[in-house]
Amino acid sequence: MNKIILSGRSNENLARKIAKFKGNKLGEVSISNFFDGEINVEIKEPVRGKDIFIVQSGCRPVNDHIIEFLLLADAARRSQVGSITLVMPYFPYSRKEKMSKPGEPISAKAIAHFIESIGVKKVIACDLHSPVLQGFFNIPVVDISTVELFTDEFKKSKVQNLVVVSPDIGGTKRARNYAGILKTPVAIIEKHRNIDQNDKMKVLNIIGTVKGKNVLLVDDIISTGSTIAEAVKLLKADGAKKIYIAATHIIAPEKVKDTLSNLPIEKIFTSDSMPITDEAKFDKLKIISLAKCIDSEIQ
Ligand code: R5P
Repeated sequence: MNKIILSGRSNENLARKIAKFKGNKLGEVSISNFFDGEINVEIKEPVRGKDIFIVQSGCRPVNDHIIEFLLLADAARRSQVGSITLVMPYFPYSRKEKMSKPGEPISAKAIAHFIESIGVKKVIACDLHSPVLQGFFNIPVVDISTVELFTDEFKKSKVQNLVVVSPDIGGTKRARNYAGILKTPVAIIEKHRNIDQNDKMKVLNIIGTVKGKNVLLVDDIISTGSTIAEAVKLLKADGAKKIYIAATHIIAPEKVKDTLSNLPIEKIFTSDSMPITDEAKFDKLKIISLAKCIDSEIQ
């Protein structure tokens, strides 16, 4: 066995499922915190010369999970492993991939720099927020697309008279990918900010037709849930019939459970890029595992 899968503490269930595809158990690591909050890691089995895959998602507490990964990678490097691949289903700080104004960092670039400088030779991610992130690295970055995984599952609902909707202009390409597979038209929600004397107001418009149609609303990330909630409100006001949602990463499922479970929708398809506890689950939430797609990249 030349490949060993190690897991940080962010998403051990997913790591275990990935290892199972290889017929293996996870490699043994011990991770704990010191009194002051610093993280202590130890790889507890021989890894010299092996190809190491470290599974760590960018979920909360995000900064701890980044440091934890860097320490695991450093421990692996010092144990003279053959190679280190980072399996990071959700890439943290990915929404800050450019400077919007002077004085800001390009946070995603800084994270990419840390990862590469610790000796990682390859990154496997899922539905990166922007393809520019691949260019922040000088090593291969595999960006697994979940479009087929999600459309295969969605097709089981046999929804007719469908339009795929992006909740913002930035998600147009993603919506077009879904629409290409499902052979449907696309509509896009356009948001502008109007600053009127004291008030800041978001004006929403729909480019395309949703009236009388069933909708598949697709996004990469649900964080606070407000983008999706506003989009659903607008779509309903515009005469949409049944609404389904596909969103790869729900960053804090337990925090948005109330918002999402109370939406007038049929179903939300998401992945296990983030751990979703039993308490965070609800009837309309359908979780599709990324383990198989990730496994096929671990060759
Ligand atoms: C934005 O560019 C992303 O694709 C998501 O729409 C956004 O991150 C969702 O955030 P929230 O759930 O906080 O509205």
